[in-house]
Order: sequence, then structure tokens, then C-alpha cells
Amino acid sequence: MLAELQKSPSLYATTKDNVVVLARMSADAQRLVVCAALAEGKSFEAEFNEASLTALKPADFGWDRFFEELQGSFNSGRVSSTSGAFVEITSSNGSKFQFSLEQTSEDIQRVILNSLLNYHHIHTHSKEIEKQLEEAGKQEQEVRMQAADLEREEVSLKESIARNKEQEDVNQRRLAELNGQLAAAEDKKRKSGAADVEEEDEELTTCRCRIPLGEKDCKDVDAELLKLVKGRWTDGATEADSIYNSVARPYTSSELTAQTSSFSSAQRQAIWQALEKIDDWDYDVFNVQSQMSGDDNASLAIQANGGSLLVTGFALMFRHGLMQKFKIDERILLNWLTVVEAGYHGNPYHNSMHAADVLHITHYILSKGGLAKKCKLTDEDMFGALFAAIIHDYDHPGINNSFHVKTQTYLATLYNDRSVLENRHVSSVFELMKLSKFNVLSAFTDDQRRDIRDTVIEMVLSTDMGLHAKIVNQFKRRLQENHDFTKKDDIRLALSMAVKMADISNCGRPEHIYLKWSGKIADEFYMQGDRERNLGLPCSPFMDRSQPAMAKGQIAFMNYIVVPLFECISEFLPDMHFSVDHTEQNKAYWNKNDDS
Ligand code: CMP
Repeated sequence: MLAELQKSPSLYATTKDNVVVLARMSADAQRLVVCAALAEGKSFEAEFNEASLTALKPADFGWDRFFEELQGSFNSGRVSSTSGAFVEITSSNGSKFQFSLEQTSEDIQRVILNSLLNYHHIHTHSKEIEKQLEEAGKQEQEVRMQAADLEREEVSLKESIARNKEQEDVNQRRLAELNGQLAAAEDKKRKSGAADVEEEDEELTTCRCRIPLGEKDCKDVDAELLKLVKGRWTDGATEADSIYNSVARPYTSSELTAQTSSFSSAQRQAIWQALEKIDDWDYDVFNVQSQMSGDDNASLAIQANGGSLLVTGFALMFRHGLMQKFKIDERILLNWLTVVEAGYHGNPYHNSMHAADVLHITHYILSKGGLAKKCKLTDEDMFGALFAAIIHDYDHPGINNSFHVKTQTYLATLYNDRSVLENRHVSSVFELMKLSKFNVLSAFTDDQRRDIRDTVIEMVLSTDMGLHAKIVNQFKRRLQENHDFTKKDDIRLALSMAVKMADISNCGRPEHIYLKWSGKIADEFYMQGDRERNLGLPCSPFMDRSQPAMAKGQIAFMNYIVVPLFECISEFLPDMHFSVDHTEQNKAYWNKNDDS
């Protein structure tokens, strides 16, 4: 009824007995008001709600018909009233209905006159009213847009709260674990003799950073899986009792044939198959991570038996014969790989899977890309390059250098705003290595250690994007000078370019791999944006989840950073040129899928 009432205009009629009748909607738009005024000044009025109208309307009239008939009767003079106390309507088919009114002291003539004046005003000022309506429409549109923005913001804040809650749970669990370890250590200290305590304290004080494995030396690695990994490149042809085989004695070739024709577990089989691609551009760390730990996201916080970084790192050390050549203690290598893997946070993007990915691409550039051959790399250079890729984002907190500098975090002050995170990545790992169980360089001579450390420091510090233009320009100058790139400085510069390329190589990978990485970096960017918003700071570009601009951001990043770097490297290593084509294909994806 209300919908029809509210559509209906105010109606006027003068009956043949000279009674002026008005029917209109009440001020609160809920009832029909009928008034009548007699010539001698008497006034009558009544209000009708849905129930009272239902009682008087002909039963076969719907509300639309009822109001239509009401309007028709007023317009064609089919309204009658003698005393004003009753107003009778005759509808088009002759049926009648009657409104009964009560006398009122209100001057209905005046009400009717005002109503008529108002009616006249609407008609004579319709342009003005249309304009007002248009304005009101615009205002309504704006308010609706603001409401939609607020709704979006509410969703993102809720998501952010949920994520913070999850992170808090992880932190709480970690805190409980650390407290447990602390209590156990104190207990042990109380119980053991003073001499033992002194010895242990001495070792503990040599490492002034968090030890991600706590009391453990190593994750619970699967020795059978390691044997398979080794078997892929040695076919049993290694010294079985050497220190580099101290955990996983390699299978003889007949054992390997037996193992690979009937795998002892589906997981081992899947890793064996995944490693078939380790020399190819489409090796997939997401697959390796999922096979090792169950998925490629939540598992990163736990990885009880190690994840993709352990598998890829271990495989490549063996693949390049580095464990064999340098007689690295396998136990220490596994301790080091798993402690470094555990020291990566469970960030959406800067996690141990990203390290595994950068490690694999660095390996690709060195081998199939041709860098090792072109620069005549030594085994120490190769080891340093893989080492640098493995640790290059160690302990990354998921917020970038600029956030550290603008909020003056402890690390920003410690490193004087210069390459804050990159300094942190290298120094924490070398600090960990002061514990002999993690010192993967213990088998090397002092000169080799110095050389590898310098290579690692230079490579990891070069991944600071704040230094990108400087390093690329330096490389271009050397290329133009036609250097043969076999001198130490040039080798380190070329290796830095390699790890820099690997660091942003996700943009040049096959589309299904690239889209996973770009989704993950967007998640991490938005989390930083949330933190900036929470601190009352403006969100950094492309980090505001309420204003998504993935396509724009990705295309710009590829145009200004990725393609120029890949082209520059391809000039030096022509076998890498295909990466530019892959990047162009990924760019085309965003041209077709603009989200802004
Ligand atoms: P970082 O790992 O510190 O150094 C390389 C930077 O490149 C990385 O941080 C990101 O800021 C940026 N980066 C890498 N991949 C992408 C991508 N797909 N889209 C946007 N930025 C990226």
C-alpha cells in the first residue's frame, strides 16, 4: 500500500454541493489524509492507514487499482459530499466507497489553499526543483561511493586484523618454545658442574644473534632422500666413508637403480622427479616446497624436515661437486642449510622458498647462462655465489629498507640507513657461523674463507635496489670497455648482476610461476601498507590494498627495472636473452587483465 500511496499525487475536487475535498499523503508518508471544507467554514478530516483503507476499499481492487481509481474519480468529478462528514468516491465501474471524516477545529480551507500554493510552486518552479533533485542525486552518488570505500577499507582492516592475529599466535608459540628452552638451559646450568658451564658459555657468547633452531643442531632431515639426491649426480661414484658422506652414504649404482624403480615413498619419488628440472628455467620451488612440507605457504613457518631451500641447496652443492672438492663436513652443511632455512620468516614473499628460487636461477645463470665459463669461475667463486644466493634475504622481516629508515628501527640506526636489510642478511649468517656446528666454511683455508666472504658480502649487498642504477651503470661501463671479466673485481660485479637478475627473475619465469610470485609480493606489499596506515604514515606506492593497481605496478616494474636489466645481462650472456621474451609475455598478461 505504502508504495502506491507514496507514488500518488495530492488530489483536489469541489463537489456539486460546493464542498472542497483534498486527499493527500500524511507528512510521515505512512497514511492517506482526506479533508473536506464547507463553504460556511466547517472543516472535516481523517487519516487512513493500511488497515482502515483495506476495510473501505472494494475487495477486488488491488492497491494499484485503488489509487488509480481514487485519482480518476478526483480528476473526473466523481467525488461527492453533502455535509463534509462523508466523502464518497465512485469508481470507473460504478462501485462506490466512502471515507468517513470527523469535524476538526483546524482551518482546512487554509490547509487546502497552502497545498494548492505548494502545488502551484512545484509546477512553476519545476526547473529549480529539478536542479535541486539533480544536486541531491549527485550527493547521494557521492555518499554511496564513500560508503563503498569505507566498506572496502573495513574488509581490508578485518583481513589485516586476522593476519595479525595469526602472526601473534605464531609469535606466542615461538615465545613459549624459547621460554621452554631458556628454562631447560637454566636447569642444565644449575645441575651441571662449573667447568662444563664455562665451556658452554664461551661458545654461546660467540654468537650474538637469534639461533633459529634453538637447541637443535639440524632439522630432522630424511637421509634416504639425501641419498637419492646425491645419487642423481654421482651414481655411487664417491668415497663412501668421506666426511662429505657422513650423514647419507650415497647409493651404489645398483642400489640407486633399485630405489628409483620402486620408490620407498611417494614424497621421495616426487622430489626425485622435481630435481630432473634443476638445470632448466622452469624448475618449480613451489612444487618442491609442497612435496617436502605439505603446501607452499603455511608450511614455511615449520618445515620439520626442511623445505625447498634445503633440497635445492643440498642438490646444487652436490651437483657442482663442491662438497666433494672442498671435503665439506656433510653434518655441518646440513646444520647450516637448515638453520639458514629456519631463519627465513614465514613472509608471503621474502621467505625460504624465494631463497630457493633465487638460488636455482643463480645456478642457471652460472651454468646454462654461461657465466661460469665466461668469467672462468673458480670453485671458490661458485661456492661463494651459491652461498650468497642461499642467504641473500636471511631474516627478512617483510618490510623494506625505506620503512626501516622512515620509522628509524633499531636496524636502521645500526646500519646508518645504508642497505639496512642487506647488511642484516649477511652479518646474521656470519654471526651464526661463529658456532662451529654451523660453520660451513670450516673446511676452507683462511685465504679461501676471506675470498668467499668478500664475494658473498659484495653479492648480497648488491641486491639493495637503492643501489640498482649505480651497479647496472658500472656493469655497462665495464662491458663497453670490453673487459674480459676474469679479474676479481669484474667477476664479483658479474656475480652481483647474476644474483640481482635472479632476485627479480620471477617476472621472466613461465606464467604459472610468475603469477604465484607476483600475488605473493602484492600480499607482502599490502601488509607493509597496513603497517604504514596503522602508524599514521602514507602508504608507499602500490602498497595500499584499498587502491589496488597490480597491473600498473607490474608493468612499470618490468618496463623500468626488469627488462633493462635482463637486456643488459643478455648482451653479456646471449643465452639469457629468452628471459626478456618471457617478461614481455608476462607483461602482456597484465595488459589483458588490468585491475585498476
Ligand atoms: P627485494 O627482494 O629487497 O629486492 C628486489 C626487489 O624487487 C624486491 O625486494 C621487490 O621490491 C621488487 N620485486 C621483485 N619482484 C617483483 C615483482 N614481481 N613486482 C614488483 N616488485 C618486485
